[in-house]
Amino acid sequence: LVPDPSIELKDHIRGIPDFPKPGILFYDISTLLRHGPAWRTAMARMADIIRPHRPQVLAGIESRGFLVAAPLALELGLGFVMLRKPRKLPGLTIGLSYALEYGTDRIEMQADAVQPGQRVILLDDLLATGGTMAAGISLLRQAGAVVPCAAALIELTFLGGRGRLDVPFEALIQYD
Ligand code: PRP
Ligand code: MG
Repeated sequence: LVPDPSIELKDHIRGIPDFPKPGILFYDISTLLRHGPAWRTAMARMADIIRPHRPQVLAGIESRGFLVAAPLALELGLGFVMLRKPRKLPGLTIGLSYALEYGTDRIEMQADAVQPGQRVILLDDLLATGGTMAAGISLLRQAGAVVPCAAALIELTFLGGRGRLDVPFEALIQYD
């Protein structure tokens, strides 16, 4: 993939007010996804960011993290592992529950998805509080992975999510 330097990714992301709740400004990647050259540029830039961390496998967090991790795995010639919402994966799974502002959430993966010591980079579309990404990193380690970094298209810097991660974090686009 070759990035188009004339493309400004922020021009392709909309902020939608009061979604999903009043007071929340939702950064919507739908418009980026449906613009071929912009999406290609986003994936090309992500590939350039994560390549130096020498991943052996990429992992993505359901749902929107899959949209990022799967094309990057193809581009880098790597396998892709799914971290999924509960009870979606067959076979032996491991899982981790984590706290949200209200309530809890849970992610799961197949117990044999990574080899011990494999370098696995975790990807998502967006880092907000960092709770989802932190849980994903812990779960990958529980499976035996080494996590050299985590990355997302978008970081909401004002929420301080990267401070909850104990690995380097990379993002293409920041909102503060
Ligand atoms: C959103 C987003 C990240 C997560 C970030 O996912 O895609 O995965 O929230 O939030 P955090 O940093 O505060 O944990 P969402 O749960 O909305 O589900 P989706 O990806 O299936 O749309
Ligand atoms: Mg998500």
